[in-house]
Amino acid sequence: MKLYMNRASPFARKVRIAVRELGLTGRVQEADTAVSPVAANETLGRDNPLVKIPTLVTDEGDTLYDSRVICEYCDGLNRKSRLFPAAGPQRIAALRRQALADGALDAAVLCRYELALRPEALRWPDWIAGQKAKVFGVLDLLEAETGRFGEEFNIGQIGAACVCGYLDFRFPDWNWRSGRPQLAAWFERISRRPSVAETTPP
Ligand code: BEZ
Repeated sequence: MKLYMNRASPFARKVRIAVRELGLTGRVQEADTAVSPVAANETLGRDNPLVKIPTLVTDEGDTLYDSRVICEYCDGLNRKSRLFPAAGPQRIAALRRQALADGALDAAVLCRYELALRPEALRWPDWIAGQKAKVFGVLDLLEAETGRFGEEFNIGQIGAACVCGYLDFRFPDWNWRSGRPQLAAWFERISRRPSVAETTPP
């Protein structure tokens, strides 16, 4: 299988962590892919008209996106599904936490694009503040929920780890750990997992 990915992308990181957790590294070829909302990538564009990473081309030649679909597909390849609980309250809880994390990542990536790509004169500080507030709202909720994570590391916790890691990578000045000791301690611990350590952004 071919995974279009980029070491900076937190959504690609979700998939890369999942692949490692599921023992699928030998079956997935990671293809480093440059993407930008303001530049074309013809190779990726042929496989995914959204020109977004992660994109997975399966051994059967099917092309899958986005990170949610790819992670669930990979989970299904493993005889014993591990990252997505079976139907029921635990599955809904994991999907809800994944949605929370993905929403925070969407907002953080939009801030990154705004600050790194948009010409300074065209930036809209209130819009950036609005996106940042979403990220911090999610972090506060995760802080309140960390005590219930236990040893679980399903798609919800993978998403949460990718949020913390992306903020460390792109927004260290946001000091996300301040006032969130439980989440910070959890992330410190989870960062030692090989799947998380190996996928730390450059
Ligand atoms: C980044 O460089 O922050 C980034 C790269 C790809 C996707 C999203 C974010």
